[in-house]
Amino acid sequence: MFVYILFYLAIGYVGLIFAAPAPLNGPLAIRASNGTCPGYAASNIVKTDSSLTADLTLAGDPCNSYSEDIKNLKLLVEYQSTDRLHVKIYDADLKVFQVQEEAFPRPANGNTPSADAALEFNLVESPFSFTVKRKANDEVIFDTSSSQLIFQTQYVQLRTKLPKDPHVYGLGEHSDPFQLPTDNYRRSLLNSESPNIPFNSNLYGTHPVYFEHRGGKGTHGVFLLNSTPMNIFILRDDAGNQALEYDTIGGVLDFYFLAGSKPSDVSKQYADVVGHSAMYPYWTFGFHQCKYGYWDVNMVAEVVGNYSTAGIPLEVMWTDIDYMDLRQDFTTDPERFPIDKMRELVTTLHERGQRYVLILDPGVHAVANQASYARGHEQDVFLKAADGSDLLGVQWPGTVAWPDWFAPQTKTWWTDEFRRFFNPESGIDLDGIWVDMNEASNFCPNPDCNPFPEGNPPAPKNPPRPNTGRPIPGFPASFQPSNLTARADEESKGIPNREWFHPKYTVYNHRGNLSDFTIPMNTSNFDGTKQYDTHNMHGHMMALTTHSAMLDRRPELRPMVLTRSTFAGSGRQVTHWFGDNKSAWEDYRITIRQMLAWVAMHQMPMVGSDVCGFNQDTNEHLCARWAMLGAFQPFYRNHAELSTIQQEFYQWPLVSEAAKKAIDTRYKLLDYIYTALYYQTKTGEPMINPLFYLYPEDTNTFAIQEQWFYGDALLISPVTAEGSTQVTFYLPKDTFYDYWTGAVVQGEGTNVTLTDVSETEIPVHIRGGTIIPQRVNSANTTKQLRKEDFTILVAPDAEGKATGRLYLDEGEKLDQPNTSEISFSFEGGKLSSTGSFGYTGESGESVTVKNIRILGQQQAGKVGTWDSSAKSVTVEGPWKLVGAWAVEI
Ligand code: NOJ
Repeated sequence: MFVYILFYLAIGYVGLIFAAPAPLNGPLAIRASNGTCPGYAASNIVKTDSSLTADLTLAGDPCNSYSEDIKNLKLLVEYQSTDRLHVKIYDADLKVFQVQEEAFPRPANGNTPSADAALEFNLVESPFSFTVKRKANDEVIFDTSSSQLIFQTQYVQLRTKLPKDPHVYGLGEHSDPFQLPTDNYRRSLLNSESPNIPFNSNLYGTHPVYFEHRGGKGTHGVFLLNSTPMNIFILRDDAGNQALEYDTIGGVLDFYFLAGSKPSDVSKQYADVVGHSAMYPYWTFGFHQCKYGYWDVNMVAEVVGNYSTAGIPLEVMWTDIDYMDLRQDFTTDPERFPIDKMRELVTTLHERGQRYVLILDPGVHAVANQASYARGHEQDVFLKAADGSDLLGVQWPGTVAWPDWFAPQTKTWWTDEFRRFFNPESGIDLDGIWVDMNEASNFCPNPDCNPFPEGNPPAPKNPPRPNTGRPIPGFPASFQPSNLTARADEESKGIPNREWFHPKYTVYNHRGNLSDFTIPMNTSNFDGTKQYDTHNMHGHMMALTTHSAMLDRRPELRPMVLTRSTFAGSGRQVTHWFGDNKSAWEDYRITIRQMLAWVAMHQMPMVGSDVCGFNQDTNEHLCARWAMLGAFQPFYRNHAELSTIQQEFYQWPLVSEAAKKAIDTRYKLLDYIYTALYYQTKTGEPMINPLFYLYPEDTNTFAIQEQWFYGDALLISPVTAEGSTQVTFYLPKDTFYDYWTGAVVQGEGTNVTLTDVSETEIPVHIRGGTIIPQRVNSANTTKQLRKEDFTILVAPDAEGKATGRLYLDEGEKLDQPNTSEISFSFEGGKLSSTGSFGYTGESGESVTVKNIRILGQQQAGKVGTWDSSAKSVTVEGPWKLVGAWAVEI
């Protein structure tokens, strides 16, 4: 058990511990020169109660710095709600590309009278600039007056002033500090297959939204709906003035300003714009195991069996591209993953209460005898080369064609492929789908490459794996040694005729030029738009199409689709993992800041990293710590790369022990976090909270990126240094309780050091004032878990009060006619449970509270037993969660 050492350190020291500074001074070479562009002048200004429109005309000779200046623009300002202001600057001729409605359905405009709005828009006519102000305190949150607007056919620049040393978050996807660096820092948004997750780079997804936190003066958000690749800079000039600058290579300036004023208000308002997250099945919170390199169906079964033998709960088994025949979508390797046996595997998993997920890639093997390709070609679903033939590139199976996700027939074809392959009669019955490589990744490094001059070589086969001869417990006879078979080896389409490959102004890409390792930017989509404009939405559209195909297969069930590439709004329907990290302590730490940004800022709650690391061999020490950290991130999957050692938790006794404890705790808390997910889907309030969300005026919290609140009650502060058993972390000025012992730990707004934190321990503190519903016991699967009774843990604040909530439903179905939303409150020694009680556990799940435990009690109560060392009172029930009840202690 760990030991507390309280440090009352000077606050200055706090910063040292938070943000391990990353080398973020990458070249700003592609920072635009502002030149002497003339800017615009506003005229014809028309105001209504809730809107403003104006014409913007180029105010002098064109500067044509990076492409042609567009002379006539339009300005549209809408007070869409009391907290949301929409400001759009677009070309009068409507030639410039705008994100398609199907990729991003626009939020409804509530036409709020400007007098009722929290934000105020003001413009200066000439040279045109505008400000957005928070009315409550006259705080200007956006001010474009420090430079001229530039709006050209392939370059758009807008700059806003920032306060000195601003606290800015978001602008994913990246692996940079949670609170973004502010000293001439560049974020580049260009979706790219990234074989690792380097700093200061573009990664797999695009989320052009930032949150700016000004402590007591409030938090606001700014979302730019633009999918065209862009650089965003946070600048500091020699005089110390700071600014944020957008430099896009096209598209329009379509801004949504979110008033806050609390950080969680901005999250909610952003959810209203991009769409509220889907509700995911209860089982997705179980523990998942995957690896690239599970050679055959027996090996998959073996891993499942080994987990049982080790006594570590496994909820979901995954298979990577290994299952495919020659790496082709919608096929199974006839020798290694014969379809009959795959079916048997899935049936067995389902009988055991477990689940199965398979991967799909967007690149479809483009050879005439490949059935899915042939059907797709017939239906004209693939992106086209200039001569009208299917555009070809290279992916796992060899030469591939990519579906055009904007073509309506693609959805029909993809859904049909799902019907053929993912069905229990002719194919496999699946619980979820993983879509990968959808940035899209092209192994052909540049648009001119012809890697196979002599034709398309066969995709690599997995090397044979020797028959282990070991029995696989819990699996049917065909999996057992004697039966092992021998294994052989109307929108704007965008301006035409642009410079697609090397625009004069370009966006930083850590893979090279714009089109390198992806689909060439000049490729046309079915709707007439170009990849140049839609590239950043390729993965998003594939994920949405896959979601709809899953719905077709299982119309009653909530789909589980995991995607690598995303765009703003992907969270409405799909989940994400952080891609190809490595088994390194730095990447373990990065997990935390990525989780904070994805859940709170990008409205994608069901996210997580590859636990124990993807690239490179892990080791038992890192894996043990990561098993524990991962148990407190929403999506919890152990996954590794082909060439690495096996890293299932049971490989090391130490990791087994850590994982058992972590999963046991995670499962007991599953309804608590499921409830938090439910409220995020309903309101946008994040299920993972950065510390500044709960302590917005405590400046010490602003940059914290190695601690987080799991839900809004549990503060997680893992050991983050290699070889260490010590962690120094921040405890805000508040009442806390050690989750493991129940002891009061008074936070003083200082750092606290814990020593002797063994590799099977993780510090968790309960924030005073909260009530946590837990299961009394954990279980092997979430199906079993749902039968366990509840215990209610009350952690009173300094005034002896606490509140909490519990959402209950059936767990899997889209339509949930019977749900419960239960509120717990504790005050004056009385715990009450009120709310709606529609869910009664009709399938045998428990809705019984076995007991309640109240922490921080200095003496015995009228009822229950007092634990004098833990200072807690436990009262035995039972109480049924099917109606209101109360207990006085
Ligand atoms: C890249 C993905 O990021 C990784 O998770 C997967 O294992 C490989 N592709 C192989 O499918």
